[in-house]
Amino acid sequence: MTVRNKSLENIKIDKYIEIVTIPAATNPTEDRKNVGIELEEKIIFEILSKSYKKVIITIIETKEDLESLVDRKPDLVFSGIKYFDFDEKELWLSDYLKENDIFYITSNKEALNSEYDKNRAKEIVKEANINTAQFFTTQPNEHSNESSLPITFPLFLKPITGGDSRGINADSIVFNFRAYQTKVLDIYIKQQSRTLVENYLSGREYSVSILENKSKDILMILPVEIITCKNKNGHRILDYDAKINNLEEVIAVTDIKLHQELCDVAINSFRALGGKTMGRIDIKTGLNGILHFIEANFMPGLGHGYFYRSFILNEDITYEQMILKVADAGLSS
Ligand SMILES: Nc1ncnc2c1ncn2[C@@H]1O[C@H](COP(=O)(O)OP(=O)(O)OP(=O)(O)O)[C@@H](O)[C@H]1O
Ligand SMILES: [Mg+2]
Repeated sequence: MTVRNKSLENIKIDKYIEIVTIPAATNPTEDRKNVGIELEEKIIFEILSKSYKKVIITIIETKEDLESLVDRKPDLVFSGIKYFDFDEKELWLSDYLKENDIFYITSNKEALNSEYDKNRAKEIVKEANINTAQFFTTQPNEHSNESSLPITFPLFLKPITGGDSRGINADSIVFNFRAYQTKVLDIYIKQQSRTLVENYLSGREYSVSILENKSKDILMILPVEIITCKNKNGHRILDYDAKINNLEEVIAVTDIKLHQELCDVAINSFRALGGKTMGRIDIKTGLNGILHFIEANFMPGLGHGYFYRSFILNEDITYEQMILKVADAGLSS
């Protein structure tokens, strides 16, 4: 028995990984802006421990905790934390680790900031000649009548930043100026945000997951189609209620030409926005069937959501294998 354990130890990869997190939220539904991925640390720990020699979970509360982490010099930090608020000052984990020559699994601060601001992400992507719905930003009273709007109805209105479809509901689709004004005000009050106004894309919806392992020269681009049920007005959008209640169906993209087109839009967007290691690009078609970039997410959920579904539907791999691929990709970049 001891001998067998020992031989198992020997085949484990000789790397040291720290899974880094912050203390649990007091309210589980709270929108923690500095947490990009809500990791299930214990599950990740179980998976990584089977393959890597040394794995530990570290909870960071103070700047000193972070300094000790860096002193321990792990080979990889596996974390969904974007930044810490020490003494009211943001300290970005990815850039801090890079300065200290420690590998991490996500993008750097600049790329994370570009994707967080959906207006900025669309500007960058547009500049790179990738299709995206026409857009502008506004807030109450900034555009005071219909003729001052730079684009025409129907429009789609959402907060400029944010995930999990917060602030997105059936009223996001507007066909007239009165409904437009109401939603802009609603987003301003409830989300404390300016509004991103876009042309409404009424077609199909896709999400494309990306995982890049630079040293092994492996680039995985994995599209899926997401079909949500019709809302009360007969429109299909992935709004807050649809996501919370898991009302959507996720299916493989079997059409080879469409699969390739989705891969092209996704990787071009990922590159334009400076994504590293992993991400998810949301894409939707308009009436004419043309693919449009909607938004990027460089800290995709590592639970059993769209990112994982993309892996099963395209590559038929297990959850464990996916987590190991993420760690391996992080160790190489
Ligand atoms: N211009 C648009 N036209 C039509 N539907 C749209 C448009 N923009 C967004 N949507 C719908 O709203 C959903 C949520 O939008 P978006 O992906 O920007 O928000 P999110 O909250 O960041 O989502 P995530 O949870 O993926 O981070 C999309 O999945 C899509 O169904
Ligand atoms: Mg999205």
